[in-house]
Amino acid sequence: MLNPHKLGVHKVLQHIPLNAVFDAPYKRRLAKAVNIADLRLIAKQRAHKMVFDYLDAGGDDEISLRRGKDAYTELEMHYKILAGIKPPLDMSTKIFGMDVNLPFFGCPTAGNKMFHHEGEAAAAKAAEHYGTLYGLSSLATTGIEEISKIHTGPKVFQLYVWKDRELVKEVIAKAKEGGFNALALTVDFTWYGNRERDIRNDFSIPPKYTLAQVIEAIRKPAWTYDFLSHEAYKYECINTEVPAESLAAFVNSQLSPEFSWADAEWLLGEWNGPAAVKGVIRPDDAKRAVEIGFSTMWVSNHGARQLDTSPATIDVLPSIREAVGPDVEIIMDGGVQRGTDIAKALALGADSVGVGKPYLWGLAAGGEAGVKKAYEILKVELDRAMGLLGTPTVEDLKREGPSLIKRRHPSSRDYPDIYAPNRGYGGGVV
Ligand code: FNR
Repeated sequence: MLNPHKLGVHKVLQHIPLNAVFDAPYKRRLAKAVNIADLRLIAKQRAHKMVFDYLDAGGDDEISLRRGKDAYTELEMHYKILAGIKPPLDMSTKIFGMDVNLPFFGCPTAGNKMFHHEGEAAAAKAAEHYGTLYGLSSLATTGIEEISKIHTGPKVFQLYVWKDRELVKEVIAKAKEGGFNALALTVDFTWYGNRERDIRNDFSIPPKYTLAQVIEAIRKPAWTYDFLSHEAYKYECINTEVPAESLAAFVNSQLSPEFSWADAEWLLGEWNGPAAVKGVIRPDDAKRAVEIGFSTMWVSNHGARQLDTSPATIDVLPSIREAVGPDVEIIMDGGVQRGTDIAKALALGADSVGVGKPYLWGLAAGGEAGVKKAYEILKVELDRAMGLLGTPTVEDLKREGPSLIKRRHPSSRDYPDIYAPNRGYGGGVV
């Protein structure tokens, strides 16, 4: 099969600096973007469809994807007046027991170089710039050592458990050595989610270079030039000797789906430090995870990419807080695209909030500048939300939370949301 990277095309193109020319229109649009939805549209315009859909999709009918986002609209903000506070607010807090300037951060996500050659490094630089946690995926296309040099603040390493235990031990040791302070064990990925957009697009890594893929590549010159003028990416944190026909095939062949509670205990012993279980949605599972020694519950359904019709994370969050009590740390992610969404999660029991797609849309739209734009948008929105709510600090917001957020009641004024498809979600022919 024709493979431009094997032919060494990047070695020639890297000396012809046309990236800036192709990226100029997207840079202009990025400067004008006012919210996360704008970043999504710019990413859609710039990136190859196969790549954009990999980023954007949910499992099956994408019901959890839609509901996970829309769930925030069901919660109303009962703000307090005349709080006597002025901007900008101090939004500092702790994540995994470490000081951070913001109560939100970029979640670990796979294969960032597929969106932009700056990849995970761009996300780590943005997190460092804003003084918050950075999460590195075990399916990252940038190595632990490189990230450790870029991001000197608190870091969490996300782990999928591979069949090869020695490999797991090796990765953990490397993460420790690289200054990663915490481990997150992702438990909602035992089977690979059914992302039908990926199947329709014939998504694979490396790409297949079919006629349809090539035609789409020509239509997206900024993404294509970026891809062709840089070295082929690989998964830096895992055993890359196993040939990967596709990400799904690779994960299916390497992941250890039979991993159990007993194995999780083994892992905690190996790590021996702050550790989160990522993918909790049930109170009984949360209680058990605390019992076996996880310090942090990470309420997540993997950005709705795995089991469709799993609940919106913001809806289950209060039940997890109730189950584990006030002292166990909770991180929540899923569908967060506004500062008000972050404020609601903090008010309803989260100690901090993760975002995945929002910063990846920024990355796909414009590399490091795009990720920073995503952070800036969310930071300004959260500052405004906290100010208008009348809660000057994250602690105030968490303490007063339950009295500030109330579920709205269904009403006869609720007519069908005819604009829902235009919000950019929905499987099938997109
Ligand atoms: C993810 N997520 C993820 N989680 C994880 O534990 N390891 C991983 O490698 C990945 N990879 C990944 C890739 C992409 C493209 C996305 C969008 C997400 C899930 C991620 O950590 C987080 O749980 C969700 O992204 C949060 O939901 P939102 O913010 O995307 O709605």
